[in-house]
Amino acid sequence: MEDLESILFKFKGYNFGQRGLDIDLIENLEDFEIREDDVFIITYPKSGTIWFQQILSLIYFEEHRKRTGNLNTVDQVPFFEYNFQKIDFAERPSPRLFSTHLPYYLFPSGAKNKKPKIIYVYRNPKDVVCSYYYFFKNVILKITGSFEEFFEQFLEGKVIGSLWFDHIKGWYEHKSLFNIHFVMYEEMRKDLRGSILKVCKFLGKELSDEDMDSVVTQAMFENMKSDPRANYDIIIKSYGVPKGHFLRKGAIGDWKNHMTVEQNERFDKIFQREMKDVPLKFIWDMNEE
Ligand code: A3P
Repeated sequence: MEDLESILFKFKGYNFGQRGLDIDLIENLEDFEIREDDVFIITYPKSGTIWFQQILSLIYFEEHRKRTGNLNTVDQVPFFEYNFQKIDFAERPSPRLFSTHLPYYLFPSGAKNKKPKIIYVYRNPKDVVCSYYYFFKNVILKITGSFEEFFEQFLEGKVIGSLWFDHIKGWYEHKSLFNIHFVMYEEMRKDLRGSILKVCKFLGKELSDEDMDSVVTQAMFENMKSDPRANYDIIIKSYGVPKGHFLRKGAIGDWKNHMTVEQNERFDKIFQREMKDVPLKFIWDMNEE
């Protein structure tokens, strides 16, 4: 799968994607001026990034909630390192909302003093690898390689975001340095309202019941899928891949349709070894509590 590696930009031990990457920003991350009221969504790719771009847009912007504004979620909660729109972040009014895939060690160090709010969204990595495979196949590259090949590439960290285990462990093990709230994708899927309420509490945002209803409804998979402000379809069309979708299935346990028994056993062994000191809960199946 050489074509996959050709889209990576390796910098300080981490694989960025080339498209939209703000090289100047990543070379000067240390100096990036963090504000106390900044809010960052941090994810490993395919773990709920655009879901959270929609949720924060709905929480923070009344016009988004009431559908009177027509800004896309990516303009309200832009990517930090992939500054497609060439936004001047220093000129942006507070509170600035960002999404990023940065590993903990590249994150601007000003965050350790200014303590902006960080929401780390994680998803069970077996579903991440499936979601990621379709993303590379249908959205980014139209790769022709098999799931099997991609699976190996994922386990070697030769994808945007590098190794899944390093990303989550890095953030989890250094959580005391940051003001960080961990959110599980699967918990969102099972109890969207309860999860959003916890996020609002962390953000210090109090919404009326009516506004909360509106946030929850518009953040549901089917509603988001048909929401042109949130589904990224316009952006994907601009890539020239009209059939790819960011909102594909949104399922828990899709890995069972893709991974062989052997792959699954191997993955479990690696997971147990790598994650033994990370007490985060994981859900692998829709019926699991
Ligand atoms: P699938 O490919 O499994 O469907 P990211 O935004 O980090 O790239 O993650 C994309 C994944 O999040 C996709 O997973 C997508 O369907 C899922 N997703 C996005 N919005 C969602 C929502 N409202 N509810 C559930 N899953 C959602």
